Amino acid sequence: MNTIDTINKENLPKHLAIIMDGNGRWAKEKGKLRVFGHENGVTAVRQTVENCAKLQIKFLTLYAFSTENWNRPKIEVETLMRLLVSSLKKELKTLTKNNIRLNAIGNISSLPKKAHRELNEVISKTKENTGMTLTLALSYGAREEIKNAIQQIAVKVKNNIISPENIDETIINTHLYTHDMPDVDLLIRTSGEHRISNFLLWQIAYAELYFVNVFWPDFSELHLVEAITNYQNRERRFGKTSEQLK
Ligand code: FPP
Repeated sequence: MNTIDTINKENLPKHLAIIMDGNGRWAKEKGKLRVFGHENGVTAVRQTVENCAKLQIKFLTLYAFSTENWNRPKIEVETLMRLLVSSLKKELKTLTKNNIRLNAIGNISSLPKKAHRELNEVISKTKENTGMTLTLALSYGAREEIKNAIQQIAVKVKNNIISPENIDETIINTHLYTHDMPDVDLLIRTSGEHRISNFLLWQIAYAELYFVNVFWPDFSELHLVEAITNYQNRERRFGKTSEQLK
């Protein structure tokens, strides 16, 4: 069987991002409530985080809750927030053991107080860890992120801190939530949907996209290995020709 031990460690994605989709459908297929899918989604999160840390992936970013997800039924939003708080409480030890630094992107201050507090606590307790950076995208929307960056830059232009002709990609990057992270190399989406859903629009400009036909709770080590092996066999040309890369 393909396991993470068999992966070639030389050409790993530095930044792996995942759209964890299909919890609701996974539960429905089993005749259960959607929240049952989210509960089982947490197990897949834990396994994937541990496997990525073992592989020594530098940055793993998970789309846990989008700005649009606030429109879901109240009970579902509450369950997701409860799962977030209980996972953070439970996983602090595992994060520390695996030298993982927790980070969050999105409109974090819009989270319920308890979730916000727990998140900040784990971020602060893991901030000295030097292994993988695990970023949770929470109340995240890429268009909102870009809008915020434009507003901050506009204020600096107004105050003569930046001149319009000096605005370049580096300046834009430094005003995004992801200012201290490299661009995404590989983006995985589960559940068979082929969409980006407002996730890291700026940062995936040259990412390799990988869509897998399993619901998130069923995403296993084998699927992770297949996605990374597939990535390693692709030629990333960044707009150049094959010959230029040789
Ligand atoms: C998508 O499935 C999944 C989410 C909206 C939330 C992802 C959350 C978790 C896996 C659990 C909590 C996370 C952490 C980090 C502890 P969906 O509900 O959109 O499924 P559907 O498309 O089948 O309806």
